[in-house]
Amino acid sequence: MARLATLVTATTLAIGVAVLFSTGLGEAVDANIVDATSFRCITSMTPVRQFYVDNLRGDLAATVAAANSPTGAVYPPGSVIQLMPGEAMVKRDKGFNAATHDWEFFELDVSKDGTQIRKRGFADVVNRFGGNCFACHIAARPQWDLVCESDHGCAPIPVTRAMIGALQRTDPRCNNPPPSHEDVEALRQLQELLKPRE
Ligand code: HEC
Repeated sequence: MARLATLVTATTLAIGVAVLFSTGLGEAVDANIVDATSFRCITSMTPVRQFYVDNLRGDLAATVAAANSPTGAVYPPGSVIQLMPGEAMVKRDKGFNAATHDWEFFELDVSKDGTQIRKRGFADVVNRFGGNCFACHIAARPQWDLVCESDHGCAPIPVTRAMIGALQRTDPRCNNPPPSHEDVEALRQLQELLKPRE
């Protein structure tokens, strides 16, 4: 029973956190190509270091090669990158949006019933902390194609690897075992971090 309560708490936390990373209104784009079915359980995607990748065009090898290039590379169209279950970057066709280097930014609502797109757009997507996805990600040095990681030139975010790992392992779309004590603790600390300041 106590274990179930822990699980429920952790799941609620994970959903709460996903909702917390919300964005402003995005531009309308061709929803026929990239829609809610383009996204799935984050840990069933392909892991690269601390994040996960997919390719909606079936060219996963090209996406993984770009992610693993020691000198950086332009990600191929169809690439999906996620660090948190509730946020994604999708590479659209060349010329789709010159300003964002053809990346579309997504805010996702994830639950055990699946994925819903909460917000999508280009240079204008702002999360509820006033953080503009593009404004942070454009700070990556040019060869990294707007992918920040920890050492590509973006300002760091105060979310630890432990918190990120815990969010990934408690994605409610996945068939996960109950979270470890460490993950429950990391999620608690993340929630603390995200509490609105007075
Ligand atoms: C305050 C700046 C900031 C904002 C706002 C922000 N990000 Fe990031 N994002 C980062 C940093 C820094 C990392 C790298 C974190 C790490 O690996 O330690 C990152 C990582 C990512 C990654 C994994 C690939 C990478 O770049 O390392 C994705 C995907 C991502 N963010 C998408 C988004 C989306 C979508 C939004 C808007 C809804 C967003 N981010 C808003 C700074 C930001």
